[in-house]
Amino acid sequence: MLRTHTCGQLNENNLEEKVTLVGWVSSRRDHGKIIFVDLRDRYGITQLIFLPKPEELNKKAKKIRSEDVVKIEGVVNKRPSKTENPNISTGLIEICVERLTFLSQSDELPFELDQDKEVSEELKLQHRYLYLRKPEITKKFILRHKLNQGLRDFLNKKDFLEVETPILTKSTPEGARDFLVPSRLQPAKFYALPQSPQLFKQILMVSGLDKYYQIVRCFRDEDLRKDRQPEFTQLDIEASFLEEDDILELTEKMLADIFLDVLGIKLKVPFPKISYQESMEKYNSDKPDIKEGATSSEYRFLWVTDFPLFEYNQEDKRWQSLHHPFTAPNKEDIDKLKNKDLSRVRSRSYDLVLNGQEIGSGSVRIHSTDIQEKVFEILGISGEEAKEKFGFLLRSFKFGVPPHAGIAFGLDRLYAIITKSDSIRDIIAFPKTQRGISPLTGAPAVVSRDQLDELNIKTKEQES
Ligand code: AMO
Repeated sequence: MLRTHTCGQLNENNLEEKVTLVGWVSSRRDHGKIIFVDLRDRYGITQLIFLPKPEELNKKAKKIRSEDVVKIEGVVNKRPSKTENPNISTGLIEICVERLTFLSQSDELPFELDQDKEVSEELKLQHRYLYLRKPEITKKFILRHKLNQGLRDFLNKKDFLEVETPILTKSTPEGARDFLVPSRLQPAKFYALPQSPQLFKQILMVSGLDKYYQIVRCFRDEDLRKDRQPEFTQLDIEASFLEEDDILELTEKMLADIFLDVLGIKLKVPFPKISYQESMEKYNSDKPDIKEGATSSEYRFLWVTDFPLFEYNQEDKRWQSLHHPFTAPNKEDIDKLKNKDLSRVRSRSYDLVLNGQEIGSGSVRIHSTDIQEKVFEILGISGEEAKEKFGFLLRSFKFGVPPHAGIAFGLDRLYAIITKSDSIRDIIAFPKTQRGISPLTGAPAVVSRDQLDELNIKTKEQES
């Protein structure tokens, strides 16, 4: 190890110890011949002091610039009275430096880390590593990690299995456009990146795995907003032999657990519940932010249930699923399917809303071939098309399918609310701009003619 301690570790218990620290230079302040340097790493900041003597060392310290990476050896001293900083864990001590090594020197910065308010989003994303070094941003990622671990711990204890599903796959019916990946080995054929693992998690239920979860990346080519990214992370859950109330209860226990363990916040469960119809009548929204009577007030969770199974698309003059075509109709409304009284068919679905944002969505699934065929018929999906698009799921249903239900949470949205971030971009390490560009890598980018040839692809420019 290059260091004996981290920059957040030393305190009065270490007085007079000889230590070696490494880190980034957060600032250098020259007070006459005495030089102070704040050294930073993920764990914290430690104050270094360079005395006027030895002169050679003092001269070297004058060359230190912000964001240089240095290694120092020195002795832990108590800070003189009235110079302590009670706001940081190392605030009672400083290191009197005896040896300084430059491990790497920084160019002039494109922006000062603590003065980035006026800096364009584009420039910050281009130099994302600098932005991520900011202690308050680093903290968000540490919290994100702890929350992910909390979710995993909870689900593992409840016997859920984390199973990975394919990224190169076939189109999934979540309603957005697919990102396509051309196949070299199968000319003129394309994989689709999954909009969610919906079909695979249902097949895992047919496989008998009983309780599945996955912290998984999903891909959707849609117009971007503050709460939307083209690739985002879901906590995806599916389980067999249970009904909607079981999923609601599991969710409430899980969130109450991680809020208490990780954030020290006691949530009031169960969360209030409102039907879609009541929500629209009262608030004209399917994700209202209900402030009145909210006791869990910083975090106002709300279940919205019983969404309509179908909505009418005026433009295309056809019925479409409000969630996805595998959502089960309410048992009491099955007759309405046959009578074509479609706008009044409720689904067995539920959305979780937090402070007016949809952070989760799920449903009990159809597990009867008859009802599934009826739903396809209403959606105008012919037998042939259903076979072509979802045949692999439907076929699996012929071999013994358990009643099952699930839910998926948008973790970026949940964590953005928890960390009081303006946009989900703030808690994604390497996000894209509103125009789907990564200023850091330059993606999406032009590829070579050879690469296109290999994939049997001609661009319009090549054709003309
Ligand atoms: P749905 O499409 O509602 O359901 O997605 C679940 C949750 O994912 C989040 N989300 C997004 N977050 C960031 N950027 C996006 N572009 C984006 N799109 C969605 C939302 C949303 O509530 N397979 C079903 C779930 C199920 O039925 O089990 C699904 O994906 O917070």
